[in-house]
Amino acid sequence: MSFDIRAIRRQFPILSRNIGGQPLCYLDNAATTQKPATVIDALTGFYTKHNANVNRGVHILAEETTVAYDEARKTVATFVGAMSHEIIFTRNATEGINLVARSWGETTLQEGDAVALSIMEHHSNIVPWLQLKERKGIRIEWIGINAEGTFSIADLKKALKKPSVKLVSVTGLSNVLGTRPPLEKIIGLAHAAEAKVLVDAAQLIAHTPMNVRTLDVDFLAFSGHKLYGPMGVGVLVAKEELLRSMPPFFGGGDMIQNVTQDTFTPAELPRKFEAGTPSVADAIGLAAAMKWINDAGMETIAKHEHALIAHAQHVLSAVEGVHILGPANADDRTGCISFTIEGVHPHDLTDILGQQGICLRAGHHCTQPLHRHLKINASTRLSVAAYNTKEEIERCVIAIEKAQRLLNC
Ligand SMILES: Cc1ncc(COP(=O)(O)O)c(C=O)c1O
Repeated sequence: MSFDIRAIRRQFPILSRNIGGQPLCYLDNAATTQKPATVIDALTGFYTKHNANVNRGVHILAEETTVAYDEARKTVATFVGAMSHEIIFTRNATEGINLVARSWGETTLQEGDAVALSIMEHHSNIVPWLQLKERKGIRIEWIGINAEGTFSIADLKKALKKPSVKLVSVTGLSNVLGTRPPLEKIIGLAHAAEAKVLVDAAQLIAHTPMNVRTLDVDFLAFSGHKLYGPMGVGVLVAKEELLRSMPPFFGGGDMIQNVTQDTFTPAELPRKFEAGTPSVADAIGLAAAMKWINDAGMETIAKHEHALIAHAQHVLSAVEGVHILGPANADDRTGCISFTIEGVHPHDLTDILGQQGICLRAGHHCTQPLHRHLKINASTRLSVAAYNTKEEIERCVIAIEKAQRLLNC
């Protein structure tokens, strides 16, 4: 399918904004993506026509809301190749990982058991395990990266020789280096060692088709807002037998079958893990985002984004003083490119660019262990989505060179 970038851009109302007299140039997509009109319409459509609480009332609005929420779950299930009851709506990827740590981790892991994490993980996939370490005395086995920022399979093999490793929790795509740990291989090795695997797909989900069944992954967590969907909704996908064996994470309304003064019986899946009123409109918006991606074609989007990243790597490497983090070959990266510039602080750079309507990200990107490993405090990140263009990349790099001259003089 051919990719009509103008038609794509027209579907994102925010892209017509001007900032500082210049068109918005949004290259901070790894933080959150912009939303197509279909997603915004799904949100306003819900609130203007259907709004009611879900699973509770029998009036027409309550029925419509429940049907729409169930339909949204089915769309998500199809998008990732799971069954509907294996889809737990959360607030975001972070909550999904915490749910696994608090429920599966708390009841399955014993003192001395270990969780293997790569050094490139986002804090969302580190802190919940450090908290479990504090509570239960588990250990963390750190998996390193190779010179070009790729996941070290050698380290994983070494870690998995220890029977205490019960879980490998790994990002599907580094939000800094743009490298993709080889998930099939990692899952095969972990399962052979009787360890489970959690994939933090917060970044990967927006850049590649995903099928949890083919991948044979045990847990997969992602956020809607990095996938052209609304903020406030995320998904945990997990194998049915695991979800059945896990106690509920939150208690409250909607997650029970029966409550007495002494005890309660949890509801069937997936409601067992969805206590309280869920973010129904956002789940519907997420389903609309997935439909938008399916219409545009995930493979087509991925090809377009790859061309953008390859171009960004090419032009950025030509800028004096720029050090690119991660692979030298753009074919080994997806979605983002992070870099440092000699004598230029990332926050100063992104501040100057921001005033011209160019949005990049500066800081440690919630990956302090990775930045420490790379012996830097902060970096600047450029990250792309379906609606970005080569012209935007060029405008950004010209602005970087100008800012560099300004800050270095
Ligand atoms: C790799 C990775 N994991 C997890 C997260 C956390 O996502 P959220 O804040 O939506 O829960 C992010 C956000 O940037 C991320 O890049």
